[in-house]
Amino acid sequence: MRAASHRRTALAALAVLVVVTGCSESSGPALRTGAASASAPPADADYRDAGAPVEARVADLLGRMTLEEKVGQVIQIQLGRLAPGCESAGMPGVRVDPTCLRRVLGDAAIGSILSGGGEGPAGNDARAWAEMTNEIQRYAVEETRLGIPILYGLDLVHGPSAFHGATIFPHQIGLAAAWDPALVEEVAALTGAAARATGVHWVFSPVADLGRDARWGRYYETFGEDPVLAGELTAAVTRGLQGDDGGAGRVAASAKHFVGYSQPLTGHDRTGAELPVRYLQDTLIPPFQAAVDAGAHTVMVNSASVNGVPVHMSPYLLRTQLRERMGFDGVVISDWQDVRLLQTEHQAVGSYRAAMAAAFSAGIDMVMEPSDVAGSTEALRAAVESGDLPQERLDDAVRRVLTLKFRLGLFEDPYVDEAAAAAAVDGVGRDLARRAVQSSSVLLRNDGVLPLRDGARILVTGPNADSPANQMGNWTIYWRGLSRGDEVPAVTVVDGLRAAAGRHGATVVAADGDEAVAAAADADVAVVVVGEGITDGAEGLNDAEVVELAADQQRLVADLQATGTPVVVVVVASRPLVLGAAGETAGLLMAWQPGTEAGNGIADLLFGDANPSGRLPVSWPRTPGDVPMFYQQRRGPNYGPSSDYDPAHPFGAGLSYTTFAVRDASVAAPEVAADGTIELRVTVANTGDRDGAHVVPVFVTHPVTGLAMPERLLAGFTRVDVAAGEEAEATVTIPVGRFAVTPGDVDGAGEPTVPTGPYTLEVGGRSVGVTVR
Ligand code: BGC
Repeated sequence: MRAASHRRTALAALAVLVVVTGCSESSGPALRTGAASASAPPADADYRDAGAPVEARVADLLGRMTLEEKVGQVIQIQLGRLAPGCESAGMPGVRVDPTCLRRVLGDAAIGSILSGGGEGPAGNDARAWAEMTNEIQRYAVEETRLGIPILYGLDLVHGPSAFHGATIFPHQIGLAAAWDPALVEEVAALTGAAARATGVHWVFSPVADLGRDARWGRYYETFGEDPVLAGELTAAVTRGLQGDDGGAGRVAASAKHFVGYSQPLTGHDRTGAELPVRYLQDTLIPPFQAAVDAGAHTVMVNSASVNGVPVHMSPYLLRTQLRERMGFDGVVISDWQDVRLLQTEHQAVGSYRAAMAAAFSAGIDMVMEPSDVAGSTEALRAAVESGDLPQERLDDAVRRVLTLKFRLGLFEDPYVDEAAAAAAVDGVGRDLARRAVQSSSVLLRNDGVLPLRDGARILVTGPNADSPANQMGNWTIYWRGLSRGDEVPAVTVVDGLRAAAGRHGATVVAADGDEAVAAAADADVAVVVVGEGITDGAEGLNDAEVVELAADQQRLVADLQATGTPVVVVVVASRPLVLGAAGETAGLLMAWQPGTEAGNGIADLLFGDANPSGRLPVSWPRTPGDVPMFYQQRRGPNYGPSSDYDPAHPFGAGLSYTTFAVRDASVAAPEVAADGTIELRVTVANTGDRDGAHVVPVFVTHPVTGLAMPERLLAGFTRVDVAAGEEAEATVTIPVGRFAVTPGDVDGAGEPTVPTGPYTLEVGGRSVGVTVR
């Protein structure tokens, strides 16, 4: 089995490891209890003074901590280690056991717990979560010597998607297609509020990696292929989750997976990347920078290697880049088990102790261990005691973690109101989710078949027409998506079309296979919902060997086409799939994995109750061999499809039921400083007869830079609502810093700088010149 399917393999391996390291109940406690030997601090200790500055509180608390307490504070353990036997992992229905609370939070002084991809309390509803996190927190606050609250971490990457009863939103790749930071911020704010109400303080989101290689299994978790679009949206998630000041009401965000995770050479998750520093700096780091600038409290690290160095032990990436150049001041957390893997998988160091020393020295502040309580605490303690890891570096990491806990208000407000949790989760955000589906689905073909006419006889078919699991995708209750028998609120396309048909006097027949083909002959239109299933990525987390619609689904579309009835293909998938002839139907709508409100949002678009406005945040490959594909690739001099950018649908593609024109575009000043901002004013006219929203991308062409630059780069964008026959004005704000490139030869690694000279901005077919002085 590949390393990519790490979690299951790793869990099995660790079950064995735990027994041999002596953490199990039967083999007796192997942990030092240095904490117990120190006396409890007075009730009026400075760190307990809510009115004192955070820095002073941290300094006071740090000064009181034993080495064991410091070590535990920077290790994160999975929830399963608190279940009876202190060893279960990855399963739902966890009941917290007092013996394990004592071992993990008491003896080992662990400072943070996470639920890895599916771990939750029995019932898994909001109230059960609140009761469980309160119970854990109560032990930390009331039973440990210093009463330091725990930080609880969870993956909520498309709405509050780990809780039964919650509304599930489109994945990041879908939300990106709306080109709407305000929408993304609203979804994140709802998610943060749901998290905090259930006692979760840390949400492992946003994914700031770019989606440029559709083979890579976690492509759908990205905001697409462009650093400016992804940057604006990662900043929006950060603001939404954390609130204005990262205060007590909200949660900490985690920009992940720093950096280079999304472009493994092989296309397979968690395998190594080979990336020039220029590409890292000019293309892959900017979305992380945007999250950092928006105040992200934490950053999670890429599990794999870049240029042969595992990122978890790279001082260049974690210190020179992240701390010094990017100015990140918060907590750097490892990804799942990745410090241990420096030894066992990467074989870059010889022991867990050496791995701890290397990772913390490079800049890791917290280890997502997540299973081996005894082994991890021993390894980190030994790293410090041996002098391999300077005590000051451990203190610095502890200081950062404590600062975060104070900033989140956990010392003053450690518990949640169990009776109020459900109100923040159950059914919350259904309208917002429906709007998200409406604005993120992308209409790619329409020969006039859409919108569907009132009274139409509609056949609906296809493997994803009625599949809640497939429309949710991964990270829904479990990390690999819903398993059989799990129910979450879901409106499928069949449900949604039936509901809309009532409003439009239409009839809907749902059928499968040959029956569907037979029924198509009598229908006015056939809607076929194709795409991926959540288990289609045979290996790793959804990796695809070939990015193509399955042959049986292509055949289904061909058989429907052969009936002569117009066919509308709706794609529900985690990535653009090469469609062949199935992509040449009367109508084509890309809906991504749209979540709970899929059916309503898609039906609204098909019937014209909402006007499509989504635009591709990625390039849609024409053939499987096109991948990886992105609009910034330069064409080669063998002009033609083999070396041109020749996608089935380009970055930014998307149709509407109305037409738009950019009437005017101008800048306030034709000259701008390298650290200045361009305000580009545009006038957008809706020249059709339906109200609609228009996404307006602005591209920039650089002056001669001495480098082989992409022909154009996205510089900024806006999204404007314009009523039929009306005009609207909008301003696109473009920080000139976005034009920076890394100077120098092939080994260029200096700081990116903005080349001076004449630039051309292109918007809606209009060009505007700007000179950077
Ligand atoms: C994933 C992270 C996730 C973490 C915690 C890892 O396997 O790579 O994205 O946040 O698990 O569940």
